Amino acid sequence: LPVEYRSRTDAYVDRYAARAQGMVASEIRALFAVASRPEVVSLAGGMPYVSALPLDIIGDMVGELVARRGADMLQYTSAQGDPMLRERICEVMAIEGIQADADEIVVTVGAQQALDLITRIFVDPGDVVLAEAPSYVGALGTFASYQADVVHVPLDDDGLVPEALRETLERLHRERRRVKFLYTVPTFQNPAGVTLTTARRREILDICATYDVLVIEDNPYGLLGFEGPPMRALRADDADRVIYLGSFSKTIASGLRVGWALAPHAVRAKLVLAAESAILSHSNFCQFAVREYLTTQPWREQIKSFQELYRRRRDAMLESLAALMPEGCTWTRPDGGFFVWLTLPEGLDAKAMAPRAIANRVAYVPGTGFYSDGTGHRHMRLSYCYPEPARIHEGVRRLAAVVEQEIELRDTFGTGRAPSHGGVDTPGPDVS
Ligand SMILES: Cc1ncc(COP(=O)(O)O)c(C=O)c1O
Repeated sequence: LPVEYRSRTDAYVDRYAARAQGMVASEIRALFAVASRPEVVSLAGGMPYVSALPLDIIGDMVGELVARRGADMLQYTSAQGDPMLRERICEVMAIEGIQADADEIVVTVGAQQALDLITRIFVDPGDVVLAEAPSYVGALGTFASYQADVVHVPLDDDGLVPEALRETLERLHRERRRVKFLYTVPTFQNPAGVTLTTARRREILDICATYDVLVIEDNPYGLLGFEGPPMRALRADDADRVIYLGSFSKTIASGLRVGWALAPHAVRAKLVLAAESAILSHSNFCQFAVREYLTTQPWREQIKSFQELYRRRRDAMLESLAALMPEGCTWTRPDGGFFVWLTLPEGLDAKAMAPRAIANRVAYVPGTGFYSDGTGHRHMRLSYCYPEPARIHEGVRRLAAVVEQEIELRDTFGTGRAPSHGGVDTPGPDVS
């Protein structure tokens, strides 16, 4: 385009690749700038409470490690990841019933990079990817950036609904549309907080075997359960069909950016090549820090103390909701993880309400960001991972007041839903 016709805000608008059009800035990101003010109670971000870590001990550990191994830590390394770290990762996965070899693991820059690499190696523009409705916003952003056609499959309080999966696969089969993979967060789901039951796990795997569908099991919260022993991973029962994604973001620290993918041999080889092209080499600094932490620190006890901390916050959230939310609101009851999924009464719109909630000094994530089909207006995600219990209570009190006002408005003027948009909200830094 001649210079005078180019967009005033973006002079390069005519030369981006088509895939960049799927990269839509979050409509709610602007709200987060306000939401991070101290007077606002943020039930929006999914930030782990890293302050609960023994920071002084970790500081000493890293300092000592640099003094001892600095020349290795500060050097380039491989794209598959440190072999000793991969051995420690096998020990972590064994807690969820996974028997794996260190060689089958690819270390990634958080589970997010694993999602990106997997989508990169499997998805051409227009390919079908199945995802739960609702789904993790960061995964939807990745799928959109590779121009996938996301087809949602509903979940309920027991996780992904097997019958709905079967029907969707049957329909796609009739339409001769090939499904590249099913993306699922079976345990303590983000954003819904629900967990796939043991019976359904078997059923989902059986259905995927029948239709020959690859499963991406994304499991960053699996060890953060509040009741009973950890769930058995899907990957524990199907090593050929399931690619498992793990992360230390919630069990150690998100700032280290260490996650991993456990994949069948051939896929693993492609992932390593894709990782080489993306990052050349991992941060050995972070890998050594995680490896040392897992070798010398009581990490199992630390996870227990995280479980306790988040359980108290979950309790504060559920008790406050039960005591304060107006009639007609419903919500999930998570057994672990970070999130409660709340459904507003008929005729209310969580996205339209968000600015009014911020004005009342409480923030949440509207449900629309967790669907790629523009639905989700009646829902919101509430996080209990970061604020103290008393702040959670205060946040819910403020939220309940806003919902009450919305109900009054609806009863006076009828519904006034904002028009839906087709794009995907990509996450801001604190919307994980
Ligand atoms: C379901 C899910 N998958 C992946 C990620 C990305 O995690 P990581 O920090 O390991 O990149 C998150 C982060 O919140 C998540 O909730």
